[in-house]
Amino acid sequence: MSALRLDRLLANLGYGSRREVQSLVRAGAVVLDGTTLTDSDMKIALAPDLPARLSVDGMPLDPLPGLTLMLHKPLGMTCSHKEAGPLVYDALPERWRRREPAISTVGRLDKETSGLLLMTDDGDLLHRIISPKRHVAKRYVATLARPLRGDEGALFAAGTLMLEGENKPLAPAVLEPLSATAARLIITEGRYHQVRRMFAAVGNHVDALHRDRIGGLELPAGLAPGGTRIMTAAEIAAIFA
Ligand code: URA
Repeated sequence: MSALRLDRLLANLGYGSRREVQSLVRAGAVVLDGTTLTDSDMKIALAPDLPARLSVDGMPLDPLPGLTLMLHKPLGMTCSHKEAGPLVYDALPERWRRREPAISTVGRLDKETSGLLLMTDDGDLLHRIISPKRHVAKRYVATLARPLRGDEGALFAAGTLMLEGENKPLAPAVLEPLSATAARLIITEGRYHQVRRMFAAVGNHVDALHRDRIGGLELPAGLAPGGTRIMTAAEIAAIFA
């Protein structure tokens, strides 16, 4: 189990600069196992139960690094740190946006796509989920402007479909029609605007797009648009199941 100086730990979790968290400690705001800490140099072991044992201003410590969340991304939010307008990071507690390591989205959803979006500060996990070698399947529900022709499933499954402006065919994808103008689509890649461009390649247009599953992990029915939840180890494992 690793350990960190108290001031480094609190600064990394976004509680303030090293100087600011040193004043917090001096002011008696930090309590561990019932004892007020006075020494911001002290080494703190990063035990999994630390947030339950250490409080800052009377509130449990924020989750330690190794934090993975799911967001039910609503329409209109952007997966970016910088753009104008509502960002997916606005759905997180304000302090979490100053954490080091930073929390990033695991891949992206377009501003006008809703559904399951993962966020993590664990770079290895992020790469395992988005690595093309892992073939983690992403499932989307697309609402289409025009009725399906009937040949889209075969074209998407062939592994030969080329998107405009690209020179490598798409990996096979699975289409499941839901109605004349709606379908589920399962893809294992994450190319730019991939689902919209796949339907454009077969003469259609995506009016609405929603992601409801990543690997074996479904968007929980109880997680409302805009809602976030810290993921359990079992949920993380379900991604790769
Ligand atoms: N494909 C798209 O076109 N948009 C998304 O947001 C995700 C997949």
